[in-house]
Amino acid sequence: MFQCNNNKCVSNTSHCNGWDDCGDNSDEINCTCPGKFQCNNNRCVSNTSQCDSWDDCGDNSDEINCTSVVCSAFTFHCSNGLCISKLNPECDGEQDCEDGSDEANCDCGTSLYSSTRIVGGRGANVGEWPWQVSLHFKGLGHMCGASVLSDRWLLTAAHCVQDTTVYKLSQAHKWEAFLGLQVQNQTNEWTVKRGVKQIIAHRYYNRYTEDSDIALMELDTRVSLTQHIRPICLPSSTYFFPSGQEAWITGWGTTLQGGAATAILQKAEVKIINSRLCNILLNYRVTGNMLCAGVLSGGVDTCKGDSGGPLSVANSRGRFFLAGVTSWGKGCARIYAPGVYTRVTKYRSWIKQKTGV
Ligand code: ARG
Repeated sequence: MFQCNNNKCVSNTSHCNGWDDCGDNSDEINCTCPGKFQCNNNRCVSNTSQCDSWDDCGDNSDEINCTSVVCSAFTFHCSNGLCISKLNPECDGEQDCEDGSDEANCDCGTSLYSSTRIVGGRGANVGEWPWQVSLHFKGLGHMCGASVLSDRWLLTAAHCVQDTTVYKLSQAHKWEAFLGLQVQNQTNEWTVKRGVKQIIAHRYYNRYTEDSDIALMELDTRVSLTQHIRPICLPSSTYFFPSGQEAWITGWGTTLQGGAATAILQKAEVKIINSRLCNILLNYRVTGNMLCAGVLSGGVDTCKGDSGGPLSVANSRGRFFLAGVTSWGKGCARIYAPGVYTRVTKYRSWIKQKTGV
């Protein structure tokens, strides 16, 4: 039995059950709920009772302060299965999910520069785009860009790793990845070269439509993450990149359509372009798995050799998220012809499934 402060004896189950069984409420003080949710009336209910739209506590305290809403394509899914309606809550420095999962895995997307050729770009600083990778095909040198996702996974474009009649671009051992690189052929103490153990191109990649132009590369050995080699944040599948938002393109591709690749990593600012408009501008070749970005007046764009590289967008805290993978365009930097990028949000679960990242 439980002894009340007024010496009355009540059953043990009366202790902390949310009812004043003693008459002086002494069976309802000093209540804790190890591993469970404590209601305002001190009752203990399971953690999953919180915000499930049922009054499990009896005083409704498990249903107040709930930010969670019905899950949809427009809500962020917290790890506990609940959803919140805040736009792009991940890694914004505020805990929005009750389980904190919107602020987990946020060691990404920052650089030495809180920055805020590519055609129309300028030289990047050392360590400014620490997720940028240069992919070299043995014997041919720089071919494509890629982004660092973790200490052993890179993300690039599927069209970079398709066999041609002459080159077996799908063979992992023929590739070399340069991380922490700023100037081609100029390696230093923070540049790392790795072989590639495995290439996973998306099985729905379509070389005629360029749909699902995305591929993963696994490095043969892990790299140490440093100030010069850091992953970019992956947006959840419901992350929203509004049109008009500024984004950055980076790469060692040609700085003129038909020109030569550059030695110094180039960067340029572009804007996310409305998909419907882009689809019209590009002869209805833009699918829902693509994202357009560019400068409608022309002059700024990714070009040959930039493919596979990142389209980086900063969030409210200046943390960069991978909005796109450089994929294709109508020429380069032409007026009313934005660049087309693989829409990374569409492949979030595929990346998770293949890499665990
Ligand atoms: N497909 C090109 C490559 O293999 C890059 C295309 C980007 N073009 C553009 N106009 N945005 O490197």
